[in-house]
Amino acid sequence: NEDLFKNIIGHAKEYGYVFQSSEIYDGLSAVYDYGQNGVELKKNLREYWWKAMVQMHENIVGIDAAIFMHPTTWKASGHTDAFNDPLIDNKTSKKRYRADVLIEDWVEKIRQKIDKEVTKAEKRFGEAFNKEEFLATNQRVLANQAKIDEVENRFKTAMENEDLADVKQLIIDLEIADPISGSKDWTDVRQFNLMFSTEMGSTAEGANKIYLRPETAQGIFVNFLNVQKTGRMKIPFGIAQIGKAFRNEIVARQFIFRMREFEQMELQFFVRPGEEMKWYDYWKEERIKWHKAIGIAQENYRFHDHLKLAHYANAASDIEYNFPFGFKELEGIHSRTDFDLKQHEIHSGKKLQYFDPEINESYVPYVIETSIGLDRLFLSILSDSYKEEQLEDGSSRVVLKIPAFLAPTKVAVLPLTKKDGLPEKAREILDELKLDMTCQYDEKNAIGKRYRIHDANGTPFAITVDHQTLEDNTVTVRDRDTMEQERMPIAELAAFLDKKVNM
Ligand code: GAP
Repeated sequence: NEDLFKNIIGHAKEYGYVFQSSEIYDGLSAVYDYGQNGVELKKNLREYWWKAMVQMHENIVGIDAAIFMHPTTWKASGHTDAFNDPLIDNKTSKKRYRADVLIEDWVEKIRQKIDKEVTKAEKRFGEAFNKEEFLATNQRVLANQAKIDEVENRFKTAMENEDLADVKQLIIDLEIADPISGSKDWTDVRQFNLMFSTEMGSTAEGANKIYLRPETAQGIFVNFLNVQKTGRMKIPFGIAQIGKAFRNEIVARQFIFRMREFEQMELQFFVRPGEEMKWYDYWKEERIKWHKAIGIAQENYRFHDHLKLAHYANAASDIEYNFPFGFKELEGIHSRTDFDLKQHEIHSGKKLQYFDPEINESYVPYVIETSIGLDRLFLSILSDSYKEEQLEDGSSRVVLKIPAFLAPTKVAVLPLTKKDGLPEKAREILDELKLDMTCQYDEKNAIGKRYRIHDANGTPFAITVDHQTLEDNTVTVRDRDTMEQERMPIAELAAFLDKKVNM
């Protein structure tokens, strides 16, 4: 799977989906640029989300708040004081690590050891059964499992008690070595705030430290009454937003899964206190349905309900996706109570209440939040779509089977040759189609080679203009996934394709 993931990353670059940021300067860690195909896929994902959330719900509206917010916002939300990662440095390599990730990696190694033993034992079991050997294996597996539980509990307790000395001690007790230098000489663990800061104001005296928002949600909370009043919204109602968020992630791994600059698509849904569980269940259901409707492998989604809750939540669940590196969080659904609005009331001194005419009462609404990272969603679609196929004729191809409604380019229009008026005819068709869908004209290379290129780009249909086209105004339409071709009158193309490729 590691190889597969590497191939996906390589493919994303080779076909203009994702580039490392500032690559000519050797890149900027955990920051990425989207290329000509990536930008289209991202745009389509945004649109799919916005349609489902805003357009399809009478009681949900959107906003576009600024990235910069008044610094008190982050005091109120808890980010200034509590949005931290525990960091540790290795004294020999001078490399910095997240303590939780070092421990997580240790756990993962033990897990792999267990898996290996079990696989080996299962194989041996088929060959020759040896009771002593079986029992010994069993004991080692159980002991390792117990060790994992013990380590995870100790780490959790230490973090809860803010006992950073014990986090360091745990790293020493586990004899965790720096992956680079092999050294086990560690500094103390300290908390590191994940928010990026900058200064507002042009003079040093007037300078004021402000933050790049680490989540879009707070822009919604502080605008709650503005939207409610001007939109005459009645509870329950929602405010949706898509926008950039920034986190100074220390360990940035796994490509666009964890970035320092990324995009979130968030909904805050305001409800009457006491009704939050009903709406929490509603949004869990809605969101998983939305994911599954994309049409990629259904078994790659699962819920992970949180047992341990953040201080502001009374229920929380992640929708996880089976990335090439395993099931990981794709979207979070939280019942956030009235925590954020109340905090903003306290820090701003302004009332953030809603008068509910149905029960003749004013209250601070409760909030259900759905929050998804657009880049993670992008990665899930890309990983699922990437296929290396062996074909019947012995050749192979790489194809991106992106669902057609999300594909960057919907149709490639290809004249069979560069002469005999075929390019002109192809351009005529293209000029018609491009009013309704993204198209690409391509006359370079032999036709078979061109099919492969557009397969790898993820273009669901290729239209070929050949000599017969000049006689009877028909073309062939090739399906990316089945590679089957069908002849069709030009006059029918637009309607045929529109049904297949547009949202
Ligand atoms: N307002 C709630 C919130 O921000 P979160 O779980 O921290 O909650 C929500 O983030 C979603 O944002 C995650 O499920 C993930 O998809 C995405 N996300 C978070 N950090 C990210 C990062 N560093 N890079 C890419 N996506 C990220």
